Amino acid sequence: MPPTAPGTSTETKPLIDRLGLKPGHATIVGLQWGDEGKGKVVDMLAAEFDAVARYNGGANAGHTVVVGDQKYKLHLMPSGILYPGKFNVLGNGVVIDPEQLVSEIVGNRERGLKVDTTNLFISNRAHLVLPYHKAQDQLQEAAYIMPNALDQVVEGIGTTGRGIGPCYADKALRSTAVRMADLQDLNELRHKLHRIVPIKNATLKALSEYTGDTFEPIDADALLEWLKPLAEVLVPHITNTAGLLHRVTAEDKRILFEGANATLLDIDHGTYPYVTSSNCSSLGAHTGTGVPGHQVPNVIGIVKAYQTRVGGGPMPTQLDDATGDRIREVGHEYGTTTGRPRRCGWIDLVALKYTASVSGATALCVMLLDVLADLPELKLCTGYMIDGKPVDEFPACSDDLSKIEPVYETLPGFEGPVDQCRSIAELPENAQNYLKFISDFLGVPVVLASVGPKRDQSAVR
Ligand code: GDP
Ligand code: IMO
Ligand code: MG
Repeated sequence: MPPTAPGTSTETKPLIDRLGLKPGHATIVGLQWGDEGKGKVVDMLAAEFDAVARYNGGANAGHTVVVGDQKYKLHLMPSGILYPGKFNVLGNGVVIDPEQLVSEIVGNRERGLKVDTTNLFISNRAHLVLPYHKAQDQLQEAAYIMPNALDQVVEGIGTTGRGIGPCYADKALRSTAVRMADLQDLNELRHKLHRIVPIKNATLKALSEYTGDTFEPIDADALLEWLKPLAEVLVPHITNTAGLLHRVTAEDKRILFEGANATLLDIDHGTYPYVTSSNCSSLGAHTGTGVPGHQVPNVIGIVKAYQTRVGGGPMPTQLDDATGDRIREVGHEYGTTTGRPRRCGWIDLVALKYTASVSGATALCVMLLDVLADLPELKLCTGYMIDGKPVDEFPACSDDLSKIEPVYETLPGFEGPVDQCRSIAELPENAQNYLKFISDFLGVPVVLASVGPKRDQSAVR
């Protein structure tokens, strides 16, 4: 479609209607390897929802929200906290580093945001990430890549070091887990820590001996003393959040489920073993909050206009050239949580077709489209080959993914700037064609193209 003049869109209907959402709840889920811009979309939509519920992950996530000249980097706090009068929920599927959460509560209060017991609710079933989880995460990574008898060179998972894997492992082990509900009775917790800490010390000592790191034993009582002031801040917020969300649903209020990480990092459906340890596809919204799937008619898949990945694991469309470097610099592709440079490449429609179906995307938001402006041509991966033969399914094994030769479709580029466009019709024709190609390939409508980090820098269909 030929473009109309930028900034001429005068649409004033609610965003949920402009995006064509069905009545009821919605899940926001990343469809790549994270950092697609989920925080921005949650923030935009939160204005028209009553509750925002995080359902998975922990402080491995970094969601950047830009409001005016203010930038908020949220790791645990649901992105709905920036609006007054919303219920913000950390569901049972989230793993909570108490020190990080308290620092976000206090830090955001100091910036003038309201964070109190009327707008922040923490599941009593959510698990705690404790300092020994972070130590175990880092030692486990170091131990895995140690030279061995076969002298194999292996790539580590490249975790964020935030203790996510060991915490979810303890959740599955049960006897070594600590939940938010345990903070409500510190006497009981003392007994629990005296059972768990010796086991953790034995594990950390063995790992440290193997890696050659120095081992400092943890003291259960010192850990409890460290936890006490954190518990004081957190306990008033702890509740049965599933019950709260059921009441919100019964009152016909709308919940926005905020996914952390992304579908290719899902422990079951992602690019195993280079994944995180939770169900970060939209499927996790239900186990991670206690709200059943049939109550969530909208799944908004968040897609970057290109592909990025941070940490280990193959990425078929990675560009180790000047175009990849240009995308990284223009898109500021450095991790919100760890500051690591993100690997960049062309959009991978084969991976997206897979993740859009696993997560059941009903609509797509294509983010950071402005970053691609002024490239002479745009490539989109539409097929996978291994040893010259087409691959018809997204590989289950990362070894196979690392052998992929991508097949590309090339489209002409578009000229910038596009950051003033407020409707898709205002975008240059070639940019509209790029979005149409994505939506036709995936069979899911693109309802929003993001053209800058700010709330209003969004071209809606
Ligand atoms: P998330 O983890 O999915 O919430 O994404 P991150 O916040 O880690 O990374 C996305 C980055 O892109 C953030 O710095 C955002 O402020 C920024 N961003 C979001 N949308 C756009 C956009 O359309 N254009 C540009 N240039 N930046 C964007
Ligand atoms: P947001 O919500 C990008 C990646 C890590 C690593 C792997 C496992 O900001 O999109 P972990 O610490 O979870 O055990 O690390 O998963 N990873 C992310 N990459 N964005 C994220 O979150 C991520 N969360 C985890 O880099 O490769
Ligand atoms: Mg991020």
